[in-house]
Amino acid sequence: MPPGVRRAATAIVVTTAVALAAAAVAYAGNGGLAPPDPKSPNAERINDAYWVIVVFAGFIFFLVEGSLLAFVLKYRRRRRPRTAEGPQIHGSTKLEVAWTVLPVVILALIGAVVFYKLPGIKNVPAARAAGNTTVEIEGHQFYWLFRYPNGAVAIDDMRAPADAVVRERITAPEDGVIHSWWVPQLGGKFDAIPGTVNQTWFEAPAGRYEYRCGELCGIQHAFMNGYVRVLPQREFRAWVDRRAQNATGTELGREEWRGVCQKCHRLDTEFIGPAIGGNPLLADRKGIEPLLREGRGNMPAVGDTWTDEQIDALVNYAKRYAGEGSQGGGAG
Ligand code: CUA
Repeated sequence: MPPGVRRAATAIVVTTAVALAAAAVAYAGNGGLAPPDPKSPNAERINDAYWVIVVFAGFIFFLVEGSLLAFVLKYRRRRRPRTAEGPQIHGSTKLEVAWTVLPVVILALIGAVVFYKLPGIKNVPAARAAGNTTVEIEGHQFYWLFRYPNGAVAIDDMRAPADAVVRERITAPEDGVIHSWWVPQLGGKFDAIPGTVNQTWFEAPAGRYEYRCGELCGIQHAFMNGYVRVLPQREFRAWVDRRAQNATGTELGREEWRGVCQKCHRLDTEFIGPAIGGNPLLADRKGIEPLLREGRGNMPAVGDTWTDEQIDALVNYAKRYAGEGSQGGGAG
């Protein structure tokens, strides 16, 4: 192949690949460049700031890469000798002023937009007549614990009332590690730090919003994900009352078993920790409490912040796996 043809062929291959990649990103829409559709006023403002920055960053990207390509092509060597020197140019007041002033203006614009949006991201809107709910959110290895004002507790599945301000107080147990509470559609990332409380809020229509832990926190970090279920207010009230009245019930017990124990244990095979099917400890309230509260060996103190009712709920549920014959029960 003559060099000219080879170059043209390479150029076509590269252009096609870039065009395909760009088309894939454009087609993917939300799965590509764009953040997920915001559903809370603070998330909307974060999204707006993102797009302002993307527009300027995109403009500068094409400006810089475009001129780079143009210069590479226009001033390529052609048949000139390798040692030929180009024209020597000094100073261009207009250009120098432009490339100093323009970035200053762009940065000032971005700063102005972000500072304008900031209060609406950070500040909780004034309380509405409907009142608001505060949820205490604890990041544990490797589950999320939610506590409601009436004492109700939930694991991994957060529920909240629709179209009401929901305040979140995010933390982690004193001897724990740092996690990050992240519901992309409902706002930014907030670290769950031992001994510190970070606060944020959201106000969303009924729906199901995915969350995940945004901070590498240990071997099962990838399983610290789930949903915030925003329910019509009456449905939420009914759920939170039922949960508070059944503090040791099956619903919570099952959530604890699946969200806390099964992240690391299987019944019949060694997983992250040993198999626990048929272990009499599962029915032994007195024996299992110190294990949950203090941990042992590689096992973290998963229940160090639990109420007595939470431990009762787990034993009430888990005792079915304590006896002989529970070993072959699969994942339960
Ligand atoms: Cu918790 Cu990552």
